[in-house]
Amino acid sequence: LSNGLAITPAMGWNSWNHFACNVSEKLIKETADAMVSTGLSKLGYQYVNIDDCWAEINRDDKGNLVPKKSTFPSGMKALADYIHSKGLKLGIYSDAGYYTCSKQMPGSLGYEEKDAKTFASWGIDYLKYDNCNNDGSKPVERYPVMTNALMKSGRPIYFSLCEWGDMHPALWGGNLGNSWRTTNDISDTWESMVSRADENEVYAEYARPGGWNDPDMLEVGNGGMTKNEYIVHFSIWAISKAPLLIGCDVNNITKETMEILGNKEVIAVNQDKFGVQAKKVRMLGDLEVWAGPLSDYRVAVLLVNRSTRRDSITAHWEDIGLPLKTVVTVRDLWEHQTLKKKFVGSLTATVDYHASKMYIFTPDRS
Ligand code: DGJ
Repeated sequence: LSNGLAITPAMGWNSWNHFACNVSEKLIKETADAMVSTGLSKLGYQYVNIDDCWAEINRDDKGNLVPKKSTFPSGMKALADYIHSKGLKLGIYSDAGYYTCSKQMPGSLGYEEKDAKTFASWGIDYLKYDNCNNDGSKPVERYPVMTNALMKSGRPIYFSLCEWGDMHPALWGGNLGNSWRTTNDISDTWESMVSRADENEVYAEYARPGGWNDPDMLEVGNGGMTKNEYIVHFSIWAISKAPLLIGCDVNNITKETMEILGNKEVIAVNQDKFGVQAKKVRMLGDLEVWAGPLSDYRVAVLLVNRSTRRDSITAHWEDIGLPLKTVVTVRDLWEHQTLKKKFVGSLTATVDYHASKMYIFTPDRS
């Protein structure tokens, strides 16, 4: 969507994966404080996004959405002011139907202009727009109504289409939103995570600055996967130019989770200005090579071992788009080391099961 936003994939936090309906202004403020104190905001994690369950079930007598009095007593304008004072941005959630998925609050179907104006007047910076409890008409008919309403709202608001991929939004979302979900909801397991990665990968061609494929939010730090599995999760999301929306409790974030979400070199791959989503360029059973071009002639390469035993994986230059004789310097983005050896033609590495290796290849110019 040409609204000047999402020139690189969005980075931030969303309440759903960890807190589901347990949202409140207290949680959102504490999270914003933690985004700053942990250093996550400095790394680029900007958006603090409230998901479902923030509003009263009834609109007011003028038809406006009303923040839940029991959980958001100060209202959204005050909350947005607080978030902005921390140098962060505030995201909110609605639905292209009569009720949101929780059925605990109204959706925006039929109220698109009113709600877009309300969000803009509160100072909202991001809208995630779900697809539950609609009238049965096509998403491709319902979503543009909100796009237009946001474009007219007078405030640049990132628009996240949450259609879950059923109607292939990559094919029609490019001029409607800044990202579109390509999958159903992720859960905190290895199987769920890799299947979302696969479903998202087939749409690589459609990602570009301003509009990105979204395989759903991060589960890193929620406890259901091993450290190596979370590293695979974060690496695939980064190289796939997915929005990096943290889904854990940042108020109680561990050192290990910070090490993963805070890996500057991996974040830089995601935020690279070239803006091209990586693809799986070779699969040998459960052994995979993912690769995608970066700015300045560099290539991001990810070796993923999805099998149940340690194995070696080879990246071949012909698969990753490099002339066969190119000599490259290799940076390991998780070891934070530049390898002493230079490589020509191929690189083979031993990769643990349910683990990965992530590199940047820089061709020698001399
Ligand atoms: C379905 C979406 O896909 C989830 O990410 C979350 O927003 C829930 N709905 C909220 O009800």
